[in-house]
Amino acid sequence: MLPAIALSAVALGFLFVARAAPATRQVPLDPLNPYPTKPRVTFRSDGTFKITVFSDLHYGENPWDAWGPQQDVNSTKLMNIVLADEKPDYVVLNGDLITGENTFRQNSTKLIDEIVAPLNSFRIPFSSTHGNHDNEPNITHLEEIRREQLVAPLSYTRTAPPGVGGEEGPGTYWVPVYEHEGDAAPVLVLWFFDSRGGFSPGENSTAVPDWVDDTVAGWIEQQTALMDAAWGAPGDVRAALAFVHIPPHAIQALQPTLNSTQDPGLNADLLGSGSTQATTDSANLGKDQAFWDSLNANVKNLHAVISGHDHGNEWCRREPTKNVIFCFDKHSGYGGYSDAGWGHGVRNVVFSSPLPSDGLESWIRLEGGETRARVLLDQNYN
Ligand SMILES: *[C@@H]1O[C@H](CO)[C@@H](O)[C@H](O)[C@H]1NC(C)=O
Ligand SMILES: *[C@@H]1O[C@H](CO)[C@@H](O)[C@H](O)[C@H]1NC(C)=O
Ligand SMILES: *[C@@H]1O[C@H](CO)[C@@H](O)[C@H](O)[C@H]1NC(C)=O
Ligand SMILES: *[C@@H]1O[C@H](CO)[C@@H](O)[C@H](O)[C@H]1NC(C)=O
Ligand SMILES: *[C@@H]1O[C@H](CO)[C@@H](O)[C@H](O)[C@H]1NC(C)=O
Repeated sequence: MLPAIALSAVALGFLFVARAAPATRQVPLDPLNPYPTKPRVTFRSDGTFKITVFSDLHYGENPWDAWGPQQDVNSTKLMNIVLADEKPDYVVLNGDLITGENTFRQNSTKLIDEIVAPLNSFRIPFSSTHGNHDNEPNITHLEEIRREQLVAPLSYTRTAPPGVGGEEGPGTYWVPVYEHEGDAAPVLVLWFFDSRGGFSPGENSTAVPDWVDDTVAGWIEQQTALMDAAWGAPGDVRAALAFVHIPPHAIQALQPTLNSTQDPGLNADLLGSGSTQATTDSANLGKDQAFWDSLNANVKNLHAVISGHDHGNEWCRREPTKNVIFCFDKHSGYGGYSDAGWGHGVRNVVFSSPLPSDGLESWIRLEGGETRARVLLDQNYN
């Protein structure tokens, strides 16, 4: 799959670039080759591709007590067990990496070193979205991204161009996945969106909007136009998959329509105020609509949209207004709210081929190896 690479050389190369030219780092010369110094992410030689999603890791709770750090020891153990068993081709950390309410300004990004350690040691390419708990007086999405880029040679996390993403929402980007290393165009684009939320940094902290900013809608349109011009229209050869920490507002309406046979998995969190984007404050209801419209209008062959945030839910369901499949992650971290019997684990997503017409198989895997809620996400789903 991945060529053997000298991790330390990649890391040093990055450090050199970051120090020599911090401004140009954000705007790669070729916008369609955003990772010139990293190995290309590719399908396996048998035509499959496996993504494992860790979500809501919530590192850093109560560092002044014994149980907080013990939770993180447990979460790291879970990551090591899952990575050794699942051997994914790519990992997504889908937001709320850190419980920022509990962290200290002087060392909050050290938690990123702990979180990425298993990914570094297994040498798995990965990237992150960020959640409402990753924006707090002592930590921001941008600080987490910068730290991850510094300490994780196989991090593909990027920031949006200046002016895109809104207040405290820099973590919007895409990652190309190729069928073969030398191909001219990718067969899959992974999209990552920053749904913001939480609180602004510093002493007079205020609430940050908890939805993907309007500016992202235009950026999606612009990026897909660039891709089509360079690579050709997606047609029946280029697919997409999207990740965003807080589920879009439209997901709230799906819960009453769930069919536990078709849409298996834990359904223990009743979606209410704050469970989906732009529902915390009634004055802002539905403010993620521009993003949701643009994503579904411009990103063709979108297999699914995947979110975390609501730890008690792990189902998938087709969203009828956009005819797109939505799936919840599985709560992975020992930090963050939980309840008896919910367990901790991951969502696996497996592409059986690079063809957009072939569905994805997806299921929940718990720490101990138990699996459940297996679904085939294809045209016939729901
Ligand atoms: C951060 O500093 C606090 C206060 O000194 C300490 O309790 C905590 O363990 C430190 N956390 C990390 C991740 O180093
Ligand atoms: C850590 O995991 C063990 C099970 O492996 C569990 O008994 C313990 O309660 C967990 N500790 C915390 C603080 O979550
Ligand atoms: C932020 O960090 C400062 C300095 O370490 C600490 O005094 C303060 O309590 C932290 N704030 C919060 C909200 O935890
Ligand atoms: C925070 O607000 C207080 C009270 O209004 C003010 O005195 C202080 O200067 C503010 N701090 C910052 C960093 O703006
Ligand atoms: C739930 O799905 C099953 C399997 O597709 C179907 O047989 C059943 O009629 C559905 N139930 C409802 C209430 O729609």
